[in-house]
Amino acid sequence: MKIRTRLVFWYFFTSLILLLIFSVGTYWGMRHLLLTSLDEDLIRVKNDIINSYNPETNTFEVFSHPYYLEEEFSNFYLILYNSSNKEIFKSNLVDKVSLHLPSLNYDTTYTTTAKILKQPIPFKSENNQAEFRLIGSTVIKNDNLIGYLIIGESFERIHESMDKLLQVLLFGICFITLVIFVLSYFLTERSLKPLDVLIDQAKKLGHENLGERLKIVNPEDEIGKLTEVLNNLLKRLQDAFDKQQEFMADAAHELKTPLTVLRTHWEGELNNKEIPEEFKLKLVQDIETITRLSKLINNLLLLTNSEYMQFRGEFEKLDLTELLKDVIANSSVLAELKNQSLKFNYDSSILIDGDKTKLYQLFFNLIDNAVKYTPENGKITVTLSRDQSYVITEIRDTGIGIPSNDLPFIFRRFYRVHKDRSKKMGGNGLGLAIVKLITQIHNGKISVESKIDEGSAFKIMLPI
Ligand SMILES: Nc1ncnc2c1ncn2[C@@H]1O[C@H](COP(=O)(O)OP(=O)(O)OP(=O)(O)O)[C@@H](O)[C@H]1O
Ligand SMILES: [Mg+2]
Repeated sequence: MKIRTRLVFWYFFTSLILLLIFSVGTYWGMRHLLLTSLDEDLIRVKNDIINSYNPETNTFEVFSHPYYLEEEFSNFYLILYNSSNKEIFKSNLVDKVSLHLPSLNYDTTYTTTAKILKQPIPFKSENNQAEFRLIGSTVIKNDNLIGYLIIGESFERIHESMDKLLQVLLFGICFITLVIFVLSYFLTERSLKPLDVLIDQAKKLGHENLGERLKIVNPEDEIGKLTEVLNNLLKRLQDAFDKQQEFMADAAHELKTPLTVLRTHWEGELNNKEIPEEFKLKLVQDIETITRLSKLINNLLLLTNSEYMQFRGEFEKLDLTELLKDVIANSSVLAELKNQSLKFNYDSSILIDGDKTKLYQLFFNLIDNAVKYTPENGKITVTLSRDQSYVITEIRDTGIGIPSNDLPFIFRRFYRVHKDRSKKMGGNGLGLAIVKLITQIHNGKISVESKIDEGSAFKIMLPI
């Protein structure tokens, strides 16, 4: 799972859990508060009634007040007995519900379930049942027992309020978690953006641009520090790589001169009449070996130099058609030796930016391979064409072909498919590695198609 997704889920679940804890707390707190206020309500009404007792007339004045009767008491279950337990007042609700009453002359507060007998009632009821809170209280004024009062109220009002609160809380939880989800997505996106930039930059790094460094946006944060560490690592890698290339170039260079001296010397000896003919034959074989060694060293030098020095600046405008004609003219001797036909198809001259020597080497290597790996009387065709952005050079032969298993590896250094055959022909497996490197330096593309015993076609695309 991506860090981004993980962070968003962490934010989301943490806030969801916090919200749930908060909501449950609010719900229970509110419920407790409402229940207390219901009891307080009942006590207030009880006190109102008791205080309205007029000893002179021996009546409760509230009961003759129309406002109390219609408004204040309409929601209450209310029965008042006098001191001889005779009912002297009851509210409308008393006839509509049946509930378990407390025994008379006994102060109590309790919850009971009422059965609804008659509709309408001033509250909703489920299954014709409703929960009631009841207070039974003796009415005592100046130490005289005046009567007994029962007051009750349905829990319905509280249930309604709690239902509404629950709805608000649920809506709130959904809304807030959604907002947190979206916000956390954008925030993590924002804070991880520099990491994406870093990954993109690092992906573009290879041995050819080891000199480049990753951009540090904020050196203080963790990503900045990571970038710095990576940059130091890159520097060390570059140093090691440079040293290796330098060593290869130096070694090749040091070997080149003595080999040239040796070859010139032995070629001179071939004209020496004092040396017997059999020995001269051996000399010729040795000279061939030295030539092969020189070629290998030249190729190694070419590879290391090209990689070591980024010589993009040395590009010039050149006519690719002319260059190919040159290469073909110089390779035709080899083709003629094997009685092969070497043809060049082109329309007109095409100008590109490039390094003449390197491009010559590129096409020479490809045509050299075509000649080498095509039997006698075979056909080699070089075709030059162009599309909107590329010049396409195709070198097609009717040679031995390359097995499809080997195709992905033929551009590696020292890789040879037909090891013995290639070696006999003086090949070291560096030709195509050089071809690939030069194509890369020119921002070009290379592709191969090949079928065993039918032939191969190498396609080089260079940008115009
Ligand atoms: N046109 C081709 N037809 C068949 N096989 C090929 C062709 N071109 C290359 N190959 C195979 O790919 C291998 C690698 O080619 P590459 O040019 O790199 O090396 P080489 O020709 O053996 O040696 P070098 O080019 O260094 O003299 C060759 O050994 C050969 O087996
Ligand atoms: Mg080759």
